[in-house]
Amino acid sequence: MTVSIIVGTQWGDEGKGKITDYLTQDMDMVVRYQGGNNAGHTVVIKDKIFKLHLIPSGIFYNNVLCVIGNGVVVDPAVLIQEIETLKSQGFSVSNLRISAQAHVIFPYHRYLDQAQEKKREAGRIGTTSRGIGPCYVDKYNRRGIRIADLYNEKVFREKLDWNIKEKSFLLDKFYAFDKKIDIDKIYVDYLGYALAIKQYVALESTALINEAIEKKKNILLEGAQGAMLDVDHGTFPFVTSSNPIAGGACTGAGVGPTAIDEVIGVVKAYVTRVGSGPFPTEIEGKLGDELREKGGEYGATTGRPRRCGWFDAVVMKHAARINGLTQLAITKLDVLDGLDKIELCVAYEYKGKQITDFPTDIHRLAECKPIYEEHAGWSEDTTKIKEYNDLPENAKKYLARLSELAGVKISLISVGAERGQIIEV
Ligand code: GDP
Ligand code: IMO
Ligand code: MG
Repeated sequence: MTVSIIVGTQWGDEGKGKITDYLTQDMDMVVRYQGGNNAGHTVVIKDKIFKLHLIPSGIFYNNVLCVIGNGVVVDPAVLIQEIETLKSQGFSVSNLRISAQAHVIFPYHRYLDQAQEKKREAGRIGTTSRGIGPCYVDKYNRRGIRIADLYNEKVFREKLDWNIKEKSFLLDKFYAFDKKIDIDKIYVDYLGYALAIKQYVALESTALINEAIEKKKNILLEGAQGAMLDVDHGTFPFVTSSNPIAGGACTGAGVGPTAIDEVIGVVKAYVTRVGSGPFPTEIEGKLGDELREKGGEYGATTGRPRRCGWFDAVVMKHAARINGLTQLAITKLDVLDGLDKIELCVAYEYKGKQITDFPTDIHRLAECKPIYEEHAGWSEDTTKIKEYNDLPENAKKYLARLSELAGVKISLISVGAERGQIIEV
């Protein structure tokens, strides 16, 4: 009956996996719509921790169809590993589907990602080095190889030949990269992967998804990354190579905007960022380190320490607008338990003026200073709270202000990583 989109509203890792898993109890279908295995979505069920990179976070419900949409870039070796891991943990994964239109990541994409980062003079982006950017480049350059191509040996070999000639030249001559590309090995390996995933491939994924919409099913479109990593609307060039925002859900799943009922923004109660790039409310020093330890802020994909900062309402307002958010799911409120004071950035100071429209040009952003509003903290432990009314008064005030600044109502509050640690508002 409803089609909802889940988006990250900051720089990723807001807890999209947890919120997607929670909402999946009422869903018939969950679709991942962009990104690739740069994502790491964590779901905690009792004492078990699952980290998903490509498979939608609804996979723990056997009766829910989980689709890897056309907008995702798929590294089949990683996907097979993920399927095997889930199977070994007792999940059938027979409810998984992979769009035949999704583009495939090859070893040369990873090599290019690494080589480009190594050579980049204007500062490294700090990518996950999974080959995401170069794979999307091939897609937009119309040279990419899609899942469907793997089942047509002649077409596959021709496309692979062309791509490997081009990439070998670039890697050798421009990047002086030391690894060589072995076309015969890649060809055989990928035919093997194709066979292994064949049972999951949906030839017409958009028909599958739109038929579910026509049948008035409940559908969740799960984004990866977050608004500030969006290639158009984030802190370019320190972004990923896709559109994590709600618009990306329409293209990445093949769903028209008129079908969308709800857009749920996942919002961490503070902010984190992995990789380089501007981060106005970053907390340097001891407090930042404490927040990182308490929040377990280490990348689910690369294990890198995440940079931590105060909540940024300028970023929030930007994310609310470009996504058309209808609800907020606040996560990790519990990580703020025990803090005396909590800072909340309400505006930036830019050339002596207060601004609240996010400057998407990083050179202007660099001249902005956050303007903070101080909030009193709370000493209570929120991790076992089930009802909104039982939250500490100061936590409620903080949440109310956050919602007011976003201009969007809060529908969920997460107070711990485990599936059950959540408050419906
Ligand atoms: P995603 O990429 O948006 O799915 O987020 P990640 O899984 O990369 O990072 C979120 C981290 O916070 C994971 O380790 C989650 O298990 C954890 N987490 C999610 N919600 C909460 C919460 O409300 N409280 C705490 N303490 N941890 C949470
Ligand atoms: P989830 O879905 C946080 C960041 C990288 C780097 C930039 C570009 O778990 O929230 P890429 O490999 O995509 O070319 O790297 O984007 N990044 C993420 N940061 N969470 C993610 O995903 C991310 N996916 C990419 O750290 O700064
Ligand atoms: Mg993550």
